[in-house]
Amino acid sequence: MRIALVGLGYVGLPLAAAFGKVYETIGFDINEARIEELRRGYDRTLELTTEQLKEATKLSFTASLDDIRSANIYIISVPTPVDQHKNPDLTPLLKASQSVGKALGQGDIVIYESTVYPGCTEEDCVPILERFSGLKFNVDFFCGYSPERINPGDKEHTVSKIRKVTSGSTPEIAQQVDDLYKSIITAGTYKASSIKVAEAAKVIENSQRDINIAFVNELSLIFGKMGIDTSDVLEAAGTKWNFLPFRPGLVGGHCIGVDPYYLTYKAESIGYHPQVILSGRRVNDGMGSYVASQTVKLMIKHGNRIDGAKVLVLGITFKENCPDIRNSRVIDIVDELREFGCAVEVCDPWANEAEVAHEYNGLKLTKEIASLKRGSYDALIVAVSHKLFAEIKPRSLVSENGVVFDVKGFFDKSEVDGRL
Ligand SMILES: NC(=O)c1ccc[n+]([C@@H]2O[C@H](COP(=O)([O-])OP(=O)(O)OC[C@H]3O[C@@H](n4cnc5c(N)ncnc54)[C@H](O)[C@@H]3O)[C@@H](O)[C@H]2O)c1
Repeated sequence: MRIALVGLGYVGLPLAAAFGKVYETIGFDINEARIEELRRGYDRTLELTTEQLKEATKLSFTASLDDIRSANIYIISVPTPVDQHKNPDLTPLLKASQSVGKALGQGDIVIYESTVYPGCTEEDCVPILERFSGLKFNVDFFCGYSPERINPGDKEHTVSKIRKVTSGSTPEIAQQVDDLYKSIITAGTYKASSIKVAEAAKVIENSQRDINIAFVNELSLIFGKMGIDTSDVLEAAGTKWNFLPFRPGLVGGHCIGVDPYYLTYKAESIGYHPQVILSGRRVNDGMGSYVASQTVKLMIKHGNRIDGAKVLVLGITFKENCPDIRNSRVIDIVDELREFGCAVEVCDPWANEAEVAHEYNGLKLTKEIASLKRGSYDALIVAVSHKLFAEIKPRSLVSENGVVFDVKGFFDKSEVDGRL
């Protein structure tokens, strides 16, 4: 068995390393710089250490398509983003399918790991594989779908420790795909009844999370108006055995805030107009500007001038303890504050300065917590709960009448003026 992993990002690399401990595995990515770094033992996503990469003794890396032709199992884990109209952008997935189509041989299996809508593998990807390989689906080659559930920055729930859903284009292939994953996933697998079921299962896991967070975010909007502390309410309600422990916050990244649009796109295409899913999305997308306006109201109450006020935002990554800044909704807070005329500084020890400047219109990042000027800010917003921020005394950074707004409920209630 020879496995080719196509797309070596947050999902592809840990998986390639897990397979590369057992099987001959070749990791392919179009990003040559990434391949160079991985060959040197450096993973810029910080998911794997040099040591962990070394443990995958049967794993090699390439940016050349020719090198993956000898594989008989292809696993595709490329991004599945949305475009500016929030429609699925299948470009990377279809391009990766083209590449694999060119390399595909008789009897090979192509397994998709990227998050998609139900039907995408068989309706959108398979025709490309057929066209570029000249082979016939379910006769000459086969497909599988096995969605990824990893959580970037989480060193506990790593790829082999998360139960994995598998599926295949025929019952025999489903079993083969399941056996393959079972051989590296210690937490076990779940063989879904079809590829569509596996695709749907993944997209609803994240949609469910999005809707649950939207619900508590909406509670925060209501209780904010009533002067009730939402965290206190959630703590009280959480004493009931079946109350779900979701917390309000920004919903960013390229999974939870994106995947529901894959489902709603598919629903619209078959004539159903989703209501609950999209209204949840709207609530969550509005939270950044809500945080900014709540902070500004508090600043006014505390006698601060808004135009020209210095505001420090702690965190720019889309979630805590990881360097991923893609689709971070912290930028909504920054943009809204700038519209109020505030001078905004962003500090994040996890994020990369060049990536932040590139992704967010030249935004200049402060990396070092130690370089923050004590007592100099009119407001401080804790947007991301990196463990590293625990060393900060929020009140020491703001001026005497300065305001601290804690999006994540990271600091003690007594140290902050407002929170979601
Ligand atoms: N990051 C997560 O936590 C997570 C969790 C579960 C599922 N997913 C899903 O997994 C998929 C991959 O996500 P990710 O976070 O690993 O993305 P990523 O952006 O970290 O990595 C994708 C990699 O694919 C490469 N790539 C792009 N087009 C390619 C092509 N045509 N051929 C070869 N390589 C190509 C990129 O250079 C990049 O290195 C997405 O569908 C995502 O929704 C992500």
